[in-house]
Amino acid sequence: MKHTDIFDVMNDASFVNATATVCGWARTSRDSKTMAFVELNDGTTLKHLQIVIDKEKIANPAPFLKLGSALRVVGQIVPSRNGSVEMNAESIELIGECPSEYPLQKKRHTLEYLRTIPHLRLRANTFNAVFRVRSVLSAAIHEFFQGRRYVYVHTPIVTASDCEGAGEMFRVTTRPWNAEAKSEEEYYADDFFGQKAGLSVSGQLEGEVAAMAFGKIYTFGPSFRAECSNTPRHVAEFWHVEPEIAFAELPDVIEVVESSIKYVVKAVLERCPNELAFFDKNFENGLIDKLNRLVSEDFGVVTYTEAIEILKKADVKFEFPVEWGGDLATEHEKYLAEVAFGKPVFVTDYPKEIKSFYMKQNPDGKTVAATDLLAPGVGEIIGGSEREADLGKLLQAMQDRGMSTAEYENYIDLRRFGSTPHGGFGLGLERLVMYVTGIENIRDVILYPRVVNKVY
Ligand code: 4AD
Ligand code: MG
Repeated sequence: MKHTDIFDVMNDASFVNATATVCGWARTSRDSKTMAFVELNDGTTLKHLQIVIDKEKIANPAPFLKLGSALRVVGQIVPSRNGSVEMNAESIELIGECPSEYPLQKKRHTLEYLRTIPHLRLRANTFNAVFRVRSVLSAAIHEFFQGRRYVYVHTPIVTASDCEGAGEMFRVTTRPWNAEAKSEEEYYADDFFGQKAGLSVSGQLEGEVAAMAFGKIYTFGPSFRAECSNTPRHVAEFWHVEPEIAFAELPDVIEVVESSIKYVVKAVLERCPNELAFFDKNFENGLIDKLNRLVSEDFGVVTYTEAIEILKKADVKFEFPVEWGGDLATEHEKYLAEVAFGKPVFVTDYPKEIKSFYMKQNPDGKTVAATDLLAPGVGEIIGGSEREADLGKLLQAMQDRGMSTAEYENYIDLRRFGSTPHGGFGLGLERLVMYVTGIENIRDVILYPRVVNKVY
């Protein structure tokens, strides 16, 4: 269908006083005795194009005024009183009608209600803005890593190894639910792969394989977690960016995290001004200032041990105890990012017992060279580490956790053949989108959230 994007019509001055054809959906409408008005949106911009209908030219505009109708309008683009442009309709064609049971009528709906209509909620302004920001962030992530010669690799989604070792893997099977077997091995021997398989929780282990050949790689794809965490920050299927860098130690990894986050946030500041203004007004006052500060200030850095001291001294009554050796609870992470630092902060060098087997063991014998980046309002948006490059220490760590080395032969081989310090991190795209938009529930920044007890 020949037509012009509403974005172009509204942003390219050469359209002023020219005739154009636009297509879109009626978002709001107004009727009066001699005139009618439709705000048309085609998804190319958050802004609606006002269509001005003179009833002397278009006698019965009623069918075009129904919210949600798909229209094609030919008309002249003219300056409008608010400094933008509008279109004086010459002809209107109803491409797709929209009856009154269409749920997105004028009034503002809650995000909770909109979650119940995932096939329609994207037409609301909030989602128009969220998904453009998500798209721009994704493109900027590729630009950042491509610009630094990282190789984009596609790691498998079906895998036999549970990288994070937390037992949060979804099974992949073709066997019927009532199949009986004497042992687990026997059960899986008859299965499609002849062995136990699941959906990957992380592409890191395969990413390390690639980094040991290509030096610098990143993955960008879905990861799956069967965590029973019914929180505003967890989904069972999320998009995961995982860079892996050879000849790198923890400070190098931290440097890449900080510069990549700054790069992509800057891209959104430059490319999505309307969207950010919308979020600043409707979701998080001061959002744009926060993002401008993020790109110009250093992130905080604190060791886990120092963080525990800060939390112990805090003038706050935490629900969960603060003890060296324990995991940081959400309330602790919030305090560190929001109160103690007031900006994104790297917590480094966690106790080895609460972190994964593959992390580089520090000389103190107690901690590992790991880091989480905690962001105000969202909590952990990145988890990363230097990897254990020493064969003996890696095997020991696996043994301490009761892991079977047989399943990790390839991974272990990397420490036999040209091992080198290396490291990387995992960025949860949805958590970053939450931070950049001020949207508080992860279910509102992904097209179809998959969460415990519900597939929307
Ligand atoms: O901290 P995680 O579990 O680390 C890893 O998976 C490492 N293998 C990454 C690496 O070093 N290559 O996950 C990394 C990030 C988290 O910081 C979080 O942003 C996101 O992935 N994430 C989730 N996002 C949404 N819902 C979930 N259930 C998530 N689990 C992790
Ligand atoms: Mg983590």
